[in-house]
Amino acid sequence: MTQASGQVRAAGAEAAGAAGGTAIRTEDLRKTYHTARGDVPAVRGISLAVPDGEFFGLLGPNGAGKSTTIGMLTTLVRPSGGRAWVAGIDVRADPVGVKRRIGVVTQNNTLDMQLTVTENLEFRSRFFGLGPREAVRRAGQLIDAFGLGDRRTALATDLSGGQARRLLIARALVHRPEVLFLDEPTAGLDPQTRVNLWDILRVLREAGQSILLTTHYLEEAEALCDRIAVVDHGEVLASGTVDELTESAGADSVITVRYEGDVPAGLAAAAGVDDRPGVAKVETEPDQVRVFTRDPGGVLGDLIAAGAKAGLTVRDATQLKPSLETVFLTLTGREYRE
Ligand SMILES: Nc1ncnc2c1ncn2[C@@H]1O[C@H](COP(=O)(O)OP(=O)(O)OP(=O)(O)O)[C@@H](O)[C@H]1O
Ligand SMILES: [Mg+2]
Repeated sequence: MTQASGQVRAAGAEAAGAAGGTAIRTEDLRKTYHTARGDVPAVRGISLAVPDGEFFGLLGPNGAGKSTTIGMLTTLVRPSGGRAWVAGIDVRADPVGVKRRIGVVTQNNTLDMQLTVTENLEFRSRFFGLGPREAVRRAGQLIDAFGLGDRRTALATDLSGGQARRLLIARALVHRPEVLFLDEPTAGLDPQTRVNLWDILRVLREAGQSILLTTHYLEEAEALCDRIAVVDHGEVLASGTVDELTESAGADSVITVRYEGDVPAGLAAAAGVDDRPGVAKVETEPDQVRVFTRDPGGVLGDLIAAGAKAGLTVRDATQLKPSLETVFLTLTGREYRE
């Protein structure tokens, strides 16, 4: 363990995961926004169970309903139907009880911009009932743990994007919440800053902190989360570990060849891909053929050769290994767009 990770541990995610219970549970949770332009069914019946100490990811493209789900779990959005419990407490029956037990980092920067790093942490600590000396101590711990030591007197408005995210997460932890909610914590950060933040989140997880994170980055969910729910259009398409997801979706390798010009009906058959062992599915579209298979060897070459025989030039060709990307493709028939 690195020194920094030791500090994060010492700074105390230690309250988390204590009772061996369920950090988050939802049953058929729903939200429809009523707007002037009509009803928007943002969340359409989501059921989840996240045990204490788990790092759980909601993965989905823009507008999938991730923030609305987090909003309901953190009592900021009133559910239209279904139920949800956080740290064992019903979000509708006792929103104040839930608020006391959770830390939340929303998608927008909610720091007090005209306060310093230290003040942001101390004021939040005081808000959660820590005494003055305790608040100073807690702020100091978190500043060290989150690598903000040389920025402690800087105004929040002067922080870099990565520093601001770190301070937002630190601030969400002042009262040692049982469950930490992070809505797209690395959106908009450059790759190096994102990876640095991943390291901090991994340390929190190691310390037993229950975390629900939303992301539209496939590789982020893959890199961090114990289990993932793939969401789209307000529904969970599938959930589990990455391995379970690739297995259960039957997400094999996916080979796609796009041609210049129209694909004749029998092209895939002419290429012999239908009969190959391991092929689960072949989709022919006007300008492309897509093959889902456990045994991708040779498929690409055969498709290109069959195209050439039919007088078609290849525009592009891709081969994806089983991954969250192929899971999404298998479940929705659409390519994942971040
Ligand atoms: N306050 C609101 N009023 C009306 N519609 C809303 C509201 N908030 C969200 N929506 C709509 O609900 C749907 C889900 O939005 P939500 O913000 O939950 O998705 P998201 O997965 O967090 O997306 P993003 O990746 O863009 O953050 C979208 O169609 C969105 O336009
Ligand atoms: Mg969102």
